[in-house]
Amino acid sequence: MNRKRMRSCALAATVILGSMGVWLANAQPGPPPPRFGSPLPGLTDAELRRFDAGREDFLEVEEEKDGLGPFFNGTSCGACHSQPATGGGSHVTVLRAGRGDGPGGPGGPGGPFIAPSLTSVIHSFANPGTRCQPSVPVNANVTARRLSIPLFGDGLIEAIPDATILALEEAGRRHEDGTRGRAARIIDAASKQPRVGKFGWKSQHATLLAFSADAYRTEMGITSDVFPGETGAGFTLEQLAGCDQVTDPEDKADPATGRRAIDRFEDFIRMLAPLPREPGNEQVRAGEGVFTRIGCAVCHVPVLQTGGNANPVFNQKPVPLYSDLLLHDIGGSDGIAEADARPNEIRTTPLWGLRFRKLQWHDGRSLSTEDAVRRHDRESRRSRDRFQNLSREDRQALLAFLDSL
Ligand code: HEC
Ligand code: HEC
Repeated sequence: MNRKRMRSCALAATVILGSMGVWLANAQPGPPPPRFGSPLPGLTDAELRRFDAGREDFLEVEEEKDGLGPFFNGTSCGACHSQPATGGGSHVTVLRAGRGDGPGGPGGPGGPFIAPSLTSVIHSFANPGTRCQPSVPVNANVTARRLSIPLFGDGLIEAIPDATILALEEAGRRHEDGTRGRAARIIDAASKQPRVGKFGWKSQHATLLAFSADAYRTEMGITSDVFPGETGAGFTLEQLAGCDQVTDPEDKADPATGRRAIDRFEDFIRMLAPLPREPGNEQVRAGEGVFTRIGCAVCHVPVLQTGGNANPVFNQKPVPLYSDLLLHDIGGSDGIAEADARPNEIRTTPLWGLRFRKLQWHDGRSLSTEDAVRRHDRESRRSRDRFQNLSREDRQALLAFLDSL
């Protein structure tokens, strides 16, 4: 909790950016560049205040006395969610490990997966002074790195009804080209209700509150009443309870507002707008045609719709995310089972905001969109083959379209 230092940095940044603004204004007159990381249009003043308060907490750097640790991967949400603006992604990956004994080798399709006790996440850091240290379990034969996911537009994704995703799963049974998406059936950790998972590489959570609480506990070691126990590979809850100084649950409701930090994270993420798309041109429009024609849109469904919602900002809104939010086996998954997802399954990545992702695929190992497309296999093999066989002109149009998102 270092608000003073954060404020003075912010002040310095404002001064520097302010003078850059003057310089830019002199150098290139014209409309200002679109702001990234802004709130959804149409929010009330009260909602905007909650968005700002949530954003401040999202950026707050935590310390051991606030409950950080015993193990963690970052000291603020913003540490891994910052590109190209607060709430985005980053190049930070999180390590997972476990034991998979599938028929096709470690982590192969259909085989059992055993996570080390408590979690498959192998933390990078431990609080200085703690005698507890995270480590990769000796019997692990699968390791995977997962890239941070940008959060722009996640409130709209959350507002897409479960029934829409279940209908896409049902429609998939009639596809003739071998694509069979599966809805992740999970229990939402926040409401304890059965839901369809939408968030995370494995569709492991249905709500932003549950994901925020999981991230606070798993990435930062700060427990809440949604996830009351510390976590760390190879430990028991009892062992971990004695590894840090603050009694769990650590994220307590603010007596003045009745809200926990996880509620404020939820506020910020829910109201965070999607990144605006580049204005299209003829090549981009042709590329979108190619995208549909060769079968990409079967999984990367261009637009879904939010359901009926008492809040007009979320009521019956189109969500141009380019995903069916289903789990697929397209080869090259991470070999880790999590929630309802099997080792060989991964959620269709929403492609909105793709032009800002210099590293792609769940492991961040694709350095170009073209490489990411070539890695598609199994359920997506047919559309990948059609991509490989495109004329130079069509391929360039398709890539121009993807780069406009
Ligand atoms: C060490 C880096 C790191 C930190 C710190 C971190 N995250 Fe993340 N975040 C990730 C990674 C990696 C993923 C993908 C996780 C997965 O699916 O396995 C992710 C995914 C998410 C998602 C899912 C987004 C989607 O659209 O599917 C949400 C929501 C999220 N994080 C919120 C938070 C919040 C809130 C905090 C702070 C409490 C936080 N994160 C802290 C790395 C981080
Ligand atoms: C069977 C469903 C399916 C089809 C068909 C499909 N994809 Fe994908 N796509 C996925 C899944 C699942 C992922 C996540 C892969 C991963 O990260 O492990 C993905 C990832 C991607 C990514 C990487 C995004 C990122 O930020 O990491 C791009 C780009 C992409 N797809 C484009 C395409 C294009 C172009 C086509 C058509 C040639 C296509 N996809 C066809 C399911 C599909």
